[in-house]
Amino acid sequence: MTQDELKKAAAHAALDYIIDGSIVGVGTGSTVNHFIDALAGMRDRIRGAVSSSEASSQRLAAHGIEVFDLNGIESLPVYVDGADEIDGGFAMIKGGGGALTREKIVAAVSERFICICDTSKRVDVLGRFPLPIEVIPMACSHVTRELRKLGGEPKLREGFVTDNGNLIVDVHGLRITDPVATETRINQIVGVVTNGLFAERGADVLLLAGAGGVERLQAR
Ligand code: A5P
Repeated sequence: MTQDELKKAAAHAALDYIIDGSIVGVGTGSTVNHFIDALAGMRDRIRGAVSSSEASSQRLAAHGIEVFDLNGIESLPVYVDGADEIDGGFAMIKGGGGALTREKIVAAVSERFICICDTSKRVDVLGRFPLPIEVIPMACSHVTRELRKLGGEPKLREGFVTDNGNLIVDVHGLRITDPVATETRINQIVGVVTNGLFAERGADVLLLAGAGGVERLQAR
């Protein structure tokens, strides 16, 4: 199976977790694109979706799925999203597509985070994938200097602006052995909107697609 076929298999498995009549939290990325396409097949069974990016909103709308404003919603039963890396405790690095802040907001309002991945994303220690940080533009140099003190090598994502009008700095060369502490520490730097560690609120269920099928793993 190709990596794209594995992503599709994980995405289709997530349909089993969708609750009839609910509004579904929807992430961003190539794996989620498969999920949105699959969700279209059951759009009459859901009320609609809350989306974590302009790209996902457009794809949902193109399938005739209503996209709701998160401010009008108190809680979402399920949020479905991919990850760039996920460890054994279901802490993740996300934001390869630059949508980390909205993803973290929608995840925070959701009761269950269903992570859909292929096995290449599963790691023992987070950090080989550069950690994305969303930064207020005027704070970029300050944040970069502060990030360097943590031991990584921050690099501005050239020519990229987030849906919120901010910049992304990717930190290379980190070895994140305490994801909750690192998430908290980086978020304390003035000028950081948020970072791509999803550890404080990690995944609850991991649908991990590999050659042998989709494994359904539950957080301990
Ligand atoms: C988007 O900003 C990311 O958090 C994605 O969830 C992550 O990069 C996974 O993307 P793919 O599904 O494209 O691998």
